[in-house]
Amino acid sequence: MCGIVGYIGEREAYPVILEGLKRLEYRGYDSAGIALYDGQDIKLSKTKGKVADLEKRVSSEIDASGTVGIGHTRWATHGVPNDVNSHPHYSNSGNLVIIHNGIIENYESLKQELIKRGYTFTSDTDTEVLINLIEDVKKNENVKLGKAVQIALNQVVGAYAIAVFDKNKPNEIVVAKLGSPLAIGIGDDEFFIASDATPFLEYTKKAIYLEDEEMAIVRRKKGVKIRKIKNDSLVAPYVQELQMNLEQIVKGGYEHFMLKEIHEQPNAIKDTYRGRLRAKEGIIKMSGIDDNIEKFLNTNRIIVIACGTSWHAGLVAEYIFEDLARIPVEVEYASEFRYRNPIITENDVVIAISQSGETADTLAAIKLAKSKGAFVFGVCNVVGSSIARETHAGAYTHAGPEIGVASTKAFTTQITVLTLIALKLAKEKGSISNSNFHLHLQELELIPGKVEQALKSDAHIKQVAETYKDAKNCLYLGRGFNFPVALEGALKLKEISYIHAEGYPAAEMKHGPIALIDEQMPVFVIATKKGHYEKVVSNIQEIKSRKGKIIGIVTEGDVDVKNLADHTIEVPETLEVLTPLLTTIPLQLLSYHIAVLLNKNVDQPRNLAKSVTVE
Ligand code: AGP
Repeated sequence: MCGIVGYIGEREAYPVILEGLKRLEYRGYDSAGIALYDGQDIKLSKTKGKVADLEKRVSSEIDASGTVGIGHTRWATHGVPNDVNSHPHYSNSGNLVIIHNGIIENYESLKQELIKRGYTFTSDTDTEVLINLIEDVKKNENVKLGKAVQIALNQVVGAYAIAVFDKNKPNEIVVAKLGSPLAIGIGDDEFFIASDATPFLEYTKKAIYLEDEEMAIVRRKKGVKIRKIKNDSLVAPYVQELQMNLEQIVKGGYEHFMLKEIHEQPNAIKDTYRGRLRAKEGIIKMSGIDDNIEKFLNTNRIIVIACGTSWHAGLVAEYIFEDLARIPVEVEYASEFRYRNPIITENDVVIAISQSGETADTLAAIKLAKSKGAFVFGVCNVVGSSIARETHAGAYTHAGPEIGVASTKAFTTQITVLTLIALKLAKEKGSISNSNFHLHLQELELIPGKVEQALKSDAHIKQVAETYKDAKNCLYLGRGFNFPVALEGALKLKEISYIHAEGYPAAEMKHGPIALIDEQMPVFVIATKKGHYEKVVSNIQEIKSRKGKIIGIVTEGDVDVKNLADHTIEVPETLEVLTPLLTTIPLQLLSYHIAVLLNKNVDQPRNLAKSVTVE
């Protein structure tokens, strides 16, 4: 997720854009940049780091005058955070500049074609490819900027919210949107462009939110003309009167970042498999795996190292890898692994999982594994983070910034990446039939919609939370692929509501924990149709007979558990391997609502930090 801001009107553009970028830093803070036009030329300044770093850079680098400009704060997806990869990007001629929030999936093939036509590139970004594609179209088709953008975007696969400026057409900015948000603020003879309304809220409450596959030419004094990118048809602008305040907009209208991030999961999962999952063609494309496939196929075991929620994602991966790819997997707490003198060989493949990419224990465990000759593969959410740089190869989750301390979209996007890897290896090893492989790809593609469906139970889940918010202790039970989800559900509740909770394999109850059961002990049981359902039902009966309170996470249409449980929360049906992506949703929402009802600081719980960079 990046933040884009643009301005065209009578004011000095720089102060408007700079303040707007500061308000959008929650969307990404790897690097920042700005391009301004002063009537003569484009002046561009950009830097790795935060908007404050850009401000210093601008003051020493350019004359920040001009009444039109565009600015960007980056969350890196392609190319590590550095000055060169920062936006805005020039076209080769220097006449065009672009800012972009999104991912161009087919940028590599477009880049190769442009290189053949003599274009050169200074950055590793997909965005620089896009601006030179626009320039190439403009030149070859001899069309204006708006038409060139439209023709170019019809060659692009991926997601984008872009703003493009041509110094030879200084009275307009061209914008376009697919998959990433873009708002246009309508002032008096001035127009604002931004990822959301926060940068222009104090100037105007009137906004147009572009729809997917729409583009607009924003002209000084003349206004906004919207067209469909595909067929050039005109779209009547729908101008909204904004009601939200600044704080609400930064959180996307949600009360907390955690709730926003829970609801971002359909898009986060889609962004994570975008460009990798080709269900129609029946392929999974992951260069980090492709380039090292022999290591994965020849290893005798995979060691997963992680902490906290990432460790739970790793445990899900153990079940998935062993079930699909038949590769032995051991999951290790990084903090234990690094000190217990583990046996590591050059044949080992280590997968290190980390949202922040900065967790000290995980980083130390990686270094230990590398020192013993193991191949280390990273699954991180922050491009260019320490762990991303320390591992031999990796695959990013494209979850966007996760601000809430309690990890949610990182968990589901980590599982998405790990499932893609397991399926890819299973296909390579022939441990999965072609038909079953295709079935899994097709079902994985449906998961964002099914997560959306699971999120619709929010109101019901809030009622369940009201019933159990005063519990002093809770148990979470799951079997198979959902045992790690039970652990994760317990962690979520602990860390934001401060209620003690434990996760267990459901069958483990009779080996001790069932002694805890009484009317004061809510037991959250994951009892989806797939995965030892009958056995979980009998576990529920054992608890019921001891007056335990049962909250069942069940498959839509379930009857048996509904007849036994005090409450049930439904999730859509899916393949057993993919159930963790759905069953975790109600547990995230349960923890969230209980914490809110208890007036806890949901986004910044006591004693915790978003990234544990110390031992
Ligand atoms: C999870 O909700 C916690 N915030 C915490 O357990 C976290 O998952 C753990 O610290 C690992 O962080 P990482 O994924 O950034 O390495």
